[in-house]
Amino acid sequence: MKYNIAVIPGDGIGPEVTEQAKKALNAIADVYDHTFIYKEALMGACAIDATGNPLPDATIQTCQESDAILFGAIGHPKYDNDPTAKVRPEQGLLKLRKQLGLFCNVRPVKAYDQLIENSPLKKEIIQGTDISIYRELTGGIYFGIKELSDDGKIAFDGCSYSVEEIERIAHLAFKEAQNRRKKLTLVDKANVLETSRLWRKTVTAMANQYPDVTLDFLFVDNAAMQLILNPNQFDVILTENLFGDIISDEASVIGGSIGLLASASIGEKNALFEPIHGSFPQATGKDIANPLASILSAAMLLQHLGLHKEAAAIEKAVEKSLALGITTEDLNKKQAFTTSKVGDFIADYIENQDDSNINFKNIHMGQSTII
Ligand code: IPM
Ligand code: MG
Repeated sequence: MKYNIAVIPGDGIGPEVTEQAKKALNAIADVYDHTFIYKEALMGACAIDATGNPLPDATIQTCQESDAILFGAIGHPKYDNDPTAKVRPEQGLLKLRKQLGLFCNVRPVKAYDQLIENSPLKKEIIQGTDISIYRELTGGIYFGIKELSDDGKIAFDGCSYSVEEIERIAHLAFKEAQNRRKKLTLVDKANVLETSRLWRKTVTAMANQYPDVTLDFLFVDNAAMQLILNPNQFDVILTENLFGDIISDEASVIGGSIGLLASASIGEKNALFEPIHGSFPQATGKDIANPLASILSAAMLLQHLGLHKEAAAIEKAVEKSLALGITTEDLNKKQAFTTSKVGDFIADYIENQDDSNINFKNIHMGQSTII
C-alpha cells in the first residue's frame, strides 16, 4: 500500500531522531512491500527562523493531506529563557493540535525487563508495569483565556472543559481499557476544581456503557505519588491536558529513560506521532540522543494505519536493541552507541529478522558479513 506521511523534524534533536524513525519505516516498506511518501514541513523554532511563524500554513496543509504525521521535537533555549518573547516554538505544536483536532493523546508506559536496572526506582516496584495514559490534548488550561494586566503584575490562565470534550476522549479510554486489563482510572482534582467535577460526573455517567471496565478515581497529587509507589495498580489512566503532561513525564522514569516514550495524538481526521521528550538542545547535532521513542512512535503510526504486523516488527527490533544493549548513552553508559547506529541496527534487524546466528550482534551492526 501507499501512504503519505507528513514529516516535521522540528527543533533540537528532532531531526536526528526522526531520521532514525524514517530508517525503520523504510525497512518496513522494503520488507512488507509498502510505499511511504514523505513530505517534510516546518514547525517550531526552525519555522520561526525561516518564516517568522512557528506553524506556517503550508505545514497545516501538508498535515491535513497526510495519512499520518511523524513529528520530532520542539523548543529552543533562546525562547525558554525569554518570558517576553511574543512568538514561541511551542505555539506551533499547540496550534497544530488544535487546528487538526488532535484531542486524544495516548502515551504508553512500560517497564522493559531489559532495562529494569536503569530506573532509579526499585525493581520490585516497577517490574511488570504497563500503563496507557490517555491525555486530553486540545482543551483545558492550555487553550483557555490568557491575560496579563496592563501593569504586568497579574496573570490569568482560564481552564474550561465541556461534556462533549470529556466524552469523546473518555469513550476511547474506556475502549482501550476493554482491550486491556479492564481498569480505567480518572485522574483529576475534583476536590478543588469545577472542571474536574465535570470530568468525574461525565465519566461516571458513561461507565454503565462499559460494564466490564472497573472505573476508579484519584486526585492528581495522590496519583503522582501512587505512580511511583505502585505503578502496577494502573491499567488505563484518563486525564485532562495539564495533568497528563505532568504525570506522563513522571511516568517515564519507570521505563528508565524518557528517551523511550512514544505517543500518538489522534483526531477525527488526522493523527500525529511523536516522542514525548523535548528538543534536548544540549545534545543537538551530537548523535547521542536516544532515537527509540521516535522509532516507537513510528510503530504507533503503523498501528494507526492498521499495519499491525509491521508495528510489531518495529517493537520487536526495539526490544532486541534493548536486550543487546545497542542503545544510546542514557541507557548504556559503558558502551554507548550513537543515535544513527541505533537507527541502523533497528532497520537492519527489521530487514533480517532471523536472529538465530551467534554472530548476530556484529552482523546486525554491519560489522561482519560472514553468516
Ligand atoms: C508535551 C510537551 C508539550 C506540552 C510542550 C512542548 C508544549 O511538553 O507534548 O508533553 O506541554 O504538551
Ligand atoms: Mg510534556
